[in-house]
Amino acid sequence: MSLEVSQKISVEKIAKSKIDQVDFNELPFGQIYSDHMLVCDYEDGKWQLPKIVPYQNISLDPSAKIFHYGQSVFEGMKAYKDEQDDIWLFRPLDNQKRLNISAKRLAMPELPESYFMEGLEALLLLEKDWIPTTKNSSLYIRPFIFASGNGFHASPSDKYKFIIACSPSGPYFGGELKVLIEQKYSRSANGGVGYAKAGGNYAGQFYPTNLAIQKGYHQVIWTDDTTHENIEEAGAMNIFIRIGDTLITAPTSDRILDGITRKSIIKIAKDQGIAVEIRNISVHEIVEAHNNGILKEMFGAGTAAVISPIDAFGYQDKDYMLPKMEDSYANKLKKQITDIQYNKSEDKFGWRYGVK
Ligand code: PLP
Ligand code: COI
Repeated sequence: MSLEVSQKISVEKIAKSKIDQVDFNELPFGQIYSDHMLVCDYEDGKWQLPKIVPYQNISLDPSAKIFHYGQSVFEGMKAYKDEQDDIWLFRPLDNQKRLNISAKRLAMPELPESYFMEGLEALLLLEKDWIPTTKNSSLYIRPFIFASGNGFHASPSDKYKFIIACSPSGPYFGGELKVLIEQKYSRSANGGVGYAKAGGNYAGQFYPTNLAIQKGYHQVIWTDDTTHENIEEAGAMNIFIRIGDTLITAPTSDRILDGITRKSIIKIAKDQGIAVEIRNISVHEIVEAHNNGILKEMFGAGTAAVISPIDAFGYQDKDYMLPKMEDSYANKLKKQITDIQYNKSEDKFGWRYGVK
């Protein structure tokens, strides 16, 4: 860690840790929070020094712009602990850069890399005991920036808060995953904010996703807003489709989140000699491949979701089951990426980042 910012981060420690109350063998996703958080305020036109404080509520004026105009962006990352108790992050600078890409789109101030990285590392060193070592678990990290300035005028806030909160977490999905290919609603549009990790993108998904849940599905797969023909991504993950032995995923655009897991999977798959095509793929092509018996797999890829195989998809009032495969690309690629993340294999692409 460089000493530029980290030496100046003040630390207020919690009087008594809550860690004894946590059952690390039964971790839900994102519902338990560690003892401390990092807070950094943007005021008077600049980011003030970050501080680490006990995890606590935030007090805001009812006119704070976050409540009215939704200026809010976030990231999702994980910290992993290996058998030597060393702490690892996965491509953290990509999250740092993407947070700023999102912030810029929402007219929010970008955060210097040193504030993000040194703040994160200082927090993780303090919260080291909160990083689970139980199977399929990790410390989920949620960095976010929101408008904390006041006023009902519909214009960007003059104050913001950057916070990093941590949550020891188990898997995002449990059990079978059934998705609905959306034909009416859109998650994003050309020229919009789909590529940003903006809170509002998720709020806009909840209603159509609830409708899908009522029909027995778990997630929606979004299609392009113009024709609803081409597969884009799911609510919390990018989508891969295997037809024959070829892995296909949609190209990123200003409508789709440029997922870090997605681009890592593309690289690992190609390195393994798997044919990967980054191109538009229509629902029609998927249904036809299913009918011809060559649709072998569909899976989602994301930080929270890791690699989540899809068991079935619904389209135009019909359900299509996917075959169950032991030697699936999903299983193989999941093992390869998690072995890198948990420091169990060689890191040939230089993605692992040690926190010391
Ligand atoms: N797409 C959406 C909408 C997401 O929320 C996420 C999760 O972050 C992803 C894709 C996957 O991105 P990443 O692999 O960077 O976590
Ligand atoms: C992540 O995968 O980290 C995400 O941000 C998805 C989130 C909606 C849980």
